[in-house]
Amino acid sequence: MKLCIFGAGYVGLVAAACFAESGNTVISVDVDEARIEGLKQGIIPIYEPGLKEMILKNQAEGRLSFTTDAVAAIQSSLICFIAVGTPPGEDGSADLQYVLAVARQVGQVMTGYKIVVDKSTVPVGTADKVRGVIREELTNRGIDLEFDVVSNPEFMKEGAAIDDFMKPDRVVIGTDNVRTAEIMKELYDPFMRKQNRMIVMDVRSAEMTKYAANAMLATRISFMNQIAGLCERMGADVAAVREGIGSDSRIGYDFLFPGPGYGGSCFPKDVKALVKTAEECDYDFLLLKSVEEVNERQKEVLAQKVINLFSSADQEKPLTGRVIACWGLAFKPRTDDMREAPALTIIERLLSAGAVVRVHDPEALKEAQKFFGQRVEYSSNQYDILTNADTLVVITDWSEYRNPDFERIKSALRQATIVDGRNLYKPDRMAAIGFNYFPLGRCSCPRGNEVQR
Ligand SMILES: NC(=O)c1ccc[n+]([C@@H]2O[C@H](COP(=O)([O-])OP(=O)(O)OC[C@H]3O[C@@H](n4cnc5c(N)ncnc54)[C@H](O)[C@@H]3O)[C@@H](O)[C@H]2O)c1
Repeated sequence: MKLCIFGAGYVGLVAAACFAESGNTVISVDVDEARIEGLKQGIIPIYEPGLKEMILKNQAEGRLSFTTDAVAAIQSSLICFIAVGTPPGEDGSADLQYVLAVARQVGQVMTGYKIVVDKSTVPVGTADKVRGVIREELTNRGIDLEFDVVSNPEFMKEGAAIDDFMKPDRVVIGTDNVRTAEIMKELYDPFMRKQNRMIVMDVRSAEMTKYAANAMLATRISFMNQIAGLCERMGADVAAVREGIGSDSRIGYDFLFPGPGYGGSCFPKDVKALVKTAEECDYDFLLLKSVEEVNERQKEVLAQKVINLFSSADQEKPLTGRVIACWGLAFKPRTDDMREAPALTIIERLLSAGAVVRVHDPEALKEAQKFFGQRVEYSSNQYDILTNADTLVVITDWSEYRNPDFERIKSALRQATIVDGRNLYKPDRMAAIGFNYFPLGRCSCPRGNEVQR
């Protein structure tokens, strides 16, 4: 099939590469000329495991191309995917200007039947708006052409996006048109050869499904972060509690790890947008408002743990003279994405408390420079930043942090202290090798050396 995909970001590029990989002819369109120029030369603007290889292969084999020429892309494609950003507007609602701009272009230049697919995460009712804008443009041109608007929300996870796309848990298609559903089924057939995982529903329910999924996952995270907070105060161990509840098949183990708060380009904005959507229908989504508030507070927890370690005469800047080393900046491992990453709040808080902050991340150092400039020290070696630092703070659970050289850490740090926002290590082991270890929701075990004040 001939497709064009608007937006060469995380979702658009992964979708373009995977659709090309299954034999389709795909044109990836973006308004960012530098991005498209780079892609034409094989420079991939984001880090996503396996993406570069798949793009280069399909580009070389002529199934995948990149352009800023929206007109040619639309006119030569049967299906036009919209995978552009939907950032939060000032009031928290999803900003649809980029989605509707693409819809307008389609209406302005289409010359035959088109299926326009909303893959961006968009509020309920957006497909109607997209349809309205296309219809308006066709009316302006004085013509009447047939088209369909489909909702096909994307559920991929950054860091495992290719796998998620190639072997999806489900593909949700929102359409009332049986023929369109058949075409979409044909397109997605190669990704569900073992078992049909396509769920066809009405457009509004498909739009809501994406928000409900992200809201549910964000709720689990905030819930577990509060359980961890309580465990810490009551002397219970959140790791044991997670096992205890996760073994219940009604609950399951996923999304029950405590951490420094959820971040990324999706959960924060989608939770906000759903609260806003509810408000617009005079419905108070109390639960989600709390999920968001808990998350904002959780982002403060790690920095506060560090501050609590050091009493200081300077109450305003309690970390003056302290050097804090941070492992992990991306909002999760296997991505360089730092949008709404908890590391942003944590590091800002450490800086404003007067600390010198050094950071390491396997992929996100370049991104981090956009946020922190010269205000922090960067290193591509996870051990280099530890020399004479007062504390190591683990923010993101990259695999290289899971079983590090503890002797090396201990001899590099001024004091053997780790504040662990991902509960990567065993408290008993840490105590045995002489660390003051501060995880989340578990016994702090400052049984090794006392922290120097
Ligand atoms: N990132 C994820 O993990 C993820 C997962 C599921 C769903 N989503 C949703 O998918 C959508 C896209 O997210 P993303 O992370 O890929 O965004 P992104 O910011 O990485 O990429 C968006 C791209 O769209 C381009 N763009 C903007 N206007 C355009 C136009 N008129 N024509 C062509 N290109 C245009 C931008 O230049 C940018 O390159 C959002 O609605 C997001 O919520 C994201």
